[in-house]
Amino acid sequence: MQTLQTTSLQVRDNQLWILDQQALPQQKNWLPAHSVPQLIEHIHALRVRGAPLIGLSASLLLALLAEQGQTRAELAQALETLRAARPTAVNLMNNLDRMKLALAQPDFAPALAEEAWRLVQEDKQLCDAIADAGCTRVKPGSQLLTHCNTGGLATAGVGTALGVIARAHQQGLIKNVWVDETRPLLQGGRLTAWELGELAIPYTLITDSMAASLMARGEVDAVWVGADRIAANGDVANKIGTYSLAVLAHYHQIPFYVAAPHTTLDRSCPDGTAIPIEQRAASEVTGVAGSFGSVQWAPEAAKVYNPAFDVTPATLISGWVLDTGVVTPDQVQGGIFQPQ
Ligand code: MRU
Repeated sequence: MQTLQTTSLQVRDNQLWILDQQALPQQKNWLPAHSVPQLIEHIHALRVRGAPLIGLSASLLLALLAEQGQTRAELAQALETLRAARPTAVNLMNNLDRMKLALAQPDFAPALAEEAWRLVQEDKQLCDAIADAGCTRVKPGSQLLTHCNTGGLATAGVGTALGVIARAHQQGLIKNVWVDETRPLLQGGRLTAWELGELAIPYTLITDSMAASLMARGEVDAVWVGADRIAANGDVANKIGTYSLAVLAHYHQIPFYVAAPHTTLDRSCPDGTAIPIEQRAASEVTGVAGSFGSVQWAPEAAKVYNPAFDVTPATLISGWVLDTGVVTPDQVQGGIFQPQ
């Protein structure tokens, strides 16, 4: 396969490499993701993360394993193992469905390479289209609040919600971005802050509990988040803490936008209650770990609740900003996301 470089993925020497998103921003380590167990371990540890990126990394690895001579049966097994790597983000399943069709081709190795390449190029285009659509909803002088990380690190392109913010900044529309640190794994404080700094976009880091008081003071013009899965009724699963922001935005009458590619839409999922939510290790909540080391502050025996995602009901969402344009609440109620 040809050489590929995105913000957080590389294909070189016919192998896949990933930028360790757990070590950022202190260290920029490119790690091998040369086998299915290796990639799955990176996905579990959130070294590879973000709904689009998880799907793309799995697709690229399958294509590379095919080039290295794995049989159709071995690849079919690898595909199903990868499909189970993270349960909430549906981009993984959607991308692997396309790779499965390529695997069924008589000449499956080049078909898989072409399909993986196409998925990466498409993702870049989807991000650009989301950014363009989203900018139509950003007012000049905006202070926008975002949660988790939805930028170039999480996609092959400019990102989803963060892509909108970056393009709106290029158009001179952004005064400040409030970055939720995003406990427990700090994707906002570590990754979004780093990306905004690299892009020279003015931002201010806050802890997750500070959003309400900022909104009450009139300092937030809109909330922009990404999505891991959009159900047929418009409910959205995204990083834990997204729902709290939607409730706060609703109370303060602030627009709440979800930006995502159409590959995040799951028409077969009737509503948010049907979205599987990943539960994660207690140690993420009892302390914090990273390239800076680790610290535990809670008692060893503390009982912990640690869902990685929550579900925001469609009724709290002002617009679903997709690559196809901005979908309104009326359109969602009219069934635009329902099975076709
Ligand atoms: O657990 P993570 O870091 O993979 O969670 C990521 C998010 O919740 C993102 O908002 C979502 O995947 C969209 S990324 C463009």
